[in-house]
Amino acid sequence: MKSLKHLIDIKSLSKTTLEALFDTADTLKQTPIKDTQLWHQDKSAMALFFENSTRTLTSFQLACQRLGVDVTALNIAHSSTQKGESIKDTVETLNAMQTDLFIVRHQQNHIQQQMADWQLSNHAGHETSIINAGDGTNQHPTQGLLDLYTIRQHKKDFKQIKVTIIGDIKHSRVANSLLDGLHTMGTTDIHLFGPNKFIPDTLKPFQASSMQAALTDSDVVVMLRIQKERLAAGVDVSVEDWHHNYGLNSEQLLLAKPDAIVMHPGPMNRGVEISDAVADGPQSVILEQVSNGVLMRQSLIHHLLIQTD
Ligand code: CP
Repeated sequence: MKSLKHLIDIKSLSKTTLEALFDTADTLKQTPIKDTQLWHQDKSAMALFFENSTRTLTSFQLACQRLGVDVTALNIAHSSTQKGESIKDTVETLNAMQTDLFIVRHQQNHIQQQMADWQLSNHAGHETSIINAGDGTNQHPTQGLLDLYTIRQHKKDFKQIKVTIIGDIKHSRVANSLLDGLHTMGTTDIHLFGPNKFIPDTLKPFQASSMQAALTDSDVVVMLRIQKERLAAGVDVSVEDWHHNYGLNSEQLLLAKPDAIVMHPGPMNRGVEISDAVADGPQSVILEQVSNGVLMRQSLIHHLLIQTD
């Protein structure tokens, strides 16, 4: 496996690297936490979340703890960014504390790449690994990893599956990372559906003509919420219309294969993009995605930290 210093996007990971990360997650699943807690006891991490999170922040914290990594989550609302300190000065200040890993979520696209570049131009000599925990509308690579890992647990061959993604694709960093990962794993039968204005031009070749066409014989159905916080000023979306046109209910799910899985990265808006019956139904793997998130993040952190040993 190629040496991994940062995880900025999922495109940079080869199929071999993705498979190595999945295999390590499988190993971690079988290994008692009391043993994995001895793996990286001399390491430290900082979680810098400039945007809200439930799943990603807590799963990164647990992943660190289960590997013995000492983790600190900076409370952005009470940090000196509120006194006007720039993100660059914040990062350089924290970098000077010689931590091993930054886990960063930010509303600005590409900020984690900028952080990596600042480190290279800084003469302090210490380079902290950076994990992108979500940047604006661009990438959410660890969500992509856990989504791929979940699909791998249920489907035999990435090359033989039909994957359907429905919702607000345009503002979804989750969709971008999953699509990049699926391409690397060899999935070509990909269908996107949502309001025309919410399918970016670059992804129009994958646009389905209808919800029915998108769902028919699908193996994997991924539902996405409306990214209200990222909509341009003046763009208004009716929740009722959305549910009617782009929401998944039990009847529509019958169009997919009987063993199709239903995924959602969370947070879910029940009754909007997904009905209660589907979210809590037998085909839903939404909580498995959450459990796998801890494992995949442990796997990634382990691979990054063994490079710095
Ligand atoms: N899927 C996801 O990123 O969820 P959070 O915003 O709760 O971290």
